[in-house]
Amino acid sequence: MYNSKITGLGYYVPENVVTNDDLSKMMDTNDAWIQERTGIKERRHVLKGGEDTTTSMGVKAAKIAIERAGIDKNDIDFIVFATLSPDYYFPGPGVLVQRDLGIKTVGALDVRNQCSGFVYGISVADQYIKTGMYKNILVIGSELHSHGMDMTTRGRGVSVIFGDGAGAAVLSREEDTTKGILTTHLHSEGQHAEELSLIAPGMGKRWVTDILEDNDPNDESYYPHMNGQFVFKNAVVRFSEVIMEGLQANKLAVSDINMLIPHQANLRISQFIQKKFGLQDDQVFNNIMKYGNTTAASIPIALTEAWEQGKIKKGDLVVLAAFGSGFTWGSAIIRW
Ligand code: UT7
Repeated sequence: MYNSKITGLGYYVPENVVTNDDLSKMMDTNDAWIQERTGIKERRHVLKGGEDTTTSMGVKAAKIAIERAGIDKNDIDFIVFATLSPDYYFPGPGVLVQRDLGIKTVGALDVRNQCSGFVYGISVADQYIKTGMYKNILVIGSELHSHGMDMTTRGRGVSVIFGDGAGAAVLSREEDTTKGILTTHLHSEGQHAEELSLIAPGMGKRWVTDILEDNDPNDESYYPHMNGQFVFKNAVVRFSEVIMEGLQANKLAVSDINMLIPHQANLRISQFIQKKFGLQDDQVFNNIMKYGNTTAASIPIALTEAWEQGKIKKGDLVVLAAFGSGFTWGSAIIRW
């Protein structure tokens, strides 16, 4: 058995900055409400009609991660792509990355676990590397939310929160099993699936021909729906549980954490966890202020920024934790 370790990280966010004041020109909201409730000051949105897509942002992040891993793109044995905002309904963006990176015909898997997508993605990649099946796996989290949100007052409970961007990691074989990804822990509770969801264009309840015939401009099923307070209450509980589960599985304590990278859902959630665990400011990384919630991209973007800023050093215990739609949640315990 081997371990896997993160050997390369990269991220890409669109240049276009959208401030809270910009949003207040489109809907009934304001900077004070958004900052107080979420901590977000600004986020990135792709330019309408521009070049950025979920796949192309993922490819840009991936190129940086591959270069930093010091491998050739053709050394990649497998691709895992996590997103809730794919370019196409099908095929998923994994194969588009294989095409756009111009690499050989390796397997490409799409992960559909929303805010937990990156943690699920590296967990899958870790298992393949542990068994010796693959040596280098590219894991991408990328989201293009701005094209799909209701940017009117009706959608303000969701649309002020989410932003666009991508992050990527290369996971490579590590012979020393005390290093790299030690364990991952995944959960789901489908009972609450609809509490944070986008129902259309699912094939579940309506025929596509009926939807086209209805052609209803007020059809809200095409916009994300979030029961914010319910999601918030579940998030703080599940974040705490899954971090503790990961630490206990490795006989570690909260005091062993050097860096916690929580999924950037809401600054208030991160602050709640920090306070609950008694962690110092330099033990928890947050960048939601700049990017909003980028769902599957949020952890790899935050991890890359923390690493670039020298906040993660060799030997550090790094904990990734996520919670989101599904509900799904998970953690990864990493010895850097
Ligand atoms: O990443 C996946 C996981 N997602 C999360 O973890 C998100 C968890 N939930 C949250 O972060 C918070 O629930 C929100 C930030 C979404 C909302 O904050 P809240 O403190 O729960 O506000 P609320 O939904 O209870 O709304 C309070 C008030 C309402 O008005 P009334 O009914 O009190 O008059 C809303 O209509 O704020 C209103 N409101 C807004 N006002 C200005 C909702 N959205 C906005 C807005 N601007 N954007």
